[in-house]
Amino acid sequence: MKVDVLLGLQWGDEGKGKVVDVLTPKYDIIARFQGGPNAGHSLEFNNIKHVLHLIPSGVFHENKLNIIGNGVVLDPIVFVKEYNELIKLGVDLKKNLVISKKTHLILPTHRTLDAASEAAKGATKIGSTLRGIGPTYMDKTGRNGLRVGDTLLPDFKERYNSLKAKHAEILKQYNFEYNIDEQEKEWLASIEVLKQFKLVDSEHIVNNAIKKNQTILAEGAQGTLLDIDFGSYPYVTSSNTICAGACTGLGVAPRSIGEVFGIVKAYCTRVGSGPFPTEQINAQGEELRKKGCEYGATTGRPRRCGWLDLVALKYSIAINGVTQIILTKSDVLSGMAKIPVCTHYKIDGQLTDEFPYSIENGLEPVYAELDGWNEDITTCKTYDSLPVNLKKYIQFIEKETGVPVSIVSVGPNREQTIVR
Ligand code: GDP
Ligand code: IMO
Ligand code: MG
Repeated sequence: MKVDVLLGLQWGDEGKGKVVDVLTPKYDIIARFQGGPNAGHSLEFNNIKHVLHLIPSGVFHENKLNIIGNGVVLDPIVFVKEYNELIKLGVDLKKNLVISKKTHLILPTHRTLDAASEAAKGATKIGSTLRGIGPTYMDKTGRNGLRVGDTLLPDFKERYNSLKAKHAEILKQYNFEYNIDEQEKEWLASIEVLKQFKLVDSEHIVNNAIKKNQTILAEGAQGTLLDIDFGSYPYVTSSNTICAGACTGLGVAPRSIGEVFGIVKAYCTRVGSGPFPTEQINAQGEELRKKGCEYGATTGRPRRCGWLDLVALKYSIAINGVTQIILTKSDVLSGMAKIPVCTHYKIDGQLTDEFPYSIENGLEPVYAELDGWNEDITTCKTYDSLPVNLKKYIQFIEKETGVPVSIVSVGPNREQTIVR
């Protein structure tokens, strides 16, 4: 079978974790292909909320194989914490998880470098999650990185020390005070735990599964507008968050990609710095944050909130070849009399619906105003039972993007999902 890809079409936190959990019963394998502990994927069932950072969101279903692919960057400390939490819940990752030997390791000094770089940038900081993501991908592309497979080598400790010494030199230039003694102890102990896992060449597992007609769901992290190439650079993450990232991050040929599920929040949020054309720094933005509980699942930071941006969405759909939209959090919009949706940008007096090189300055979003609905939709079980104006909102998105909305999520819980 082909590999289906599920990814975020906005600035992350679209509800990917929840939807992966809902779709998992249809798949044999769930695989993460990029990003790392900067991700926070929430899912909820039996009234308990779980937040995953590194572990694929299929992990709560039995008899599924979960893969951490080569495109991911892994912090052993975060990994072991997550492993221990899951054990308490009766999930034994040693049975249902494999990790690519080619996955790059986040060192304590990568985290320090992230902090030093952000401090040096001052007002222009990225607002990173400070999880060491940027510096780790820099070492990967700079060909200095350490990989999970290296932990099995007899000279791993020397390799670690050598990379740490390189980082120390860079940190001197930043003039950045730091002490990683405690972190380093925990990191080295976590490496020993990591080594007890199935460390594999996951590209073989994935390609053999494709040949055997098994079903695979690739789970994206972050969102398309945070992509290193196509996002709002430099206010982006350091990996390819787009569909192509699933090819490089798992070793899947482009022709083996099947459905591309684009997760879309019914409005927009962003955490960290960077431009956000439809942001509402006002009472309406505040209302969205409050009703949508828009606080970061990884850092707890308040998320910036604004209206749905169809210019950006159409761009994301094109870059990813999205075949189905999955709309989340429309329940948060209940009770709003009018719902603005950005259809165009006005740049130098001209209307355009083409996402421009820069969205930082001189751009004015142009809105269509749709009628809202008052009904609480969180208990709706069928598409037909949704309020007429929400259906009109969905039809508007479908007409503008040319892509069907195949699933509507009406709450954080597994059960609060309407499949059309
Ligand atoms: P992810 O990073 O894309 O997995 O998304 P996050 O987990 O960071 O953020 C999404 C938040 O919205 C989480 O708190 C989810 O529990 C919640 N959520 C997901 N889908 C829905 C939905 O349809 N309605 C509501 N109200 N909350 C949702
Ligand atoms: P999930 O998978 C939302 C943002 C950070 C920052 C920028 C760079 O939960 O959707 P990084 O630490 O990657 O160098 O930070 O990207 N960011 C996210 N925003 N959701 C995420 O992941 C994010 N991962 C990173 O806030 O602006
Ligand atoms: Mg998140």
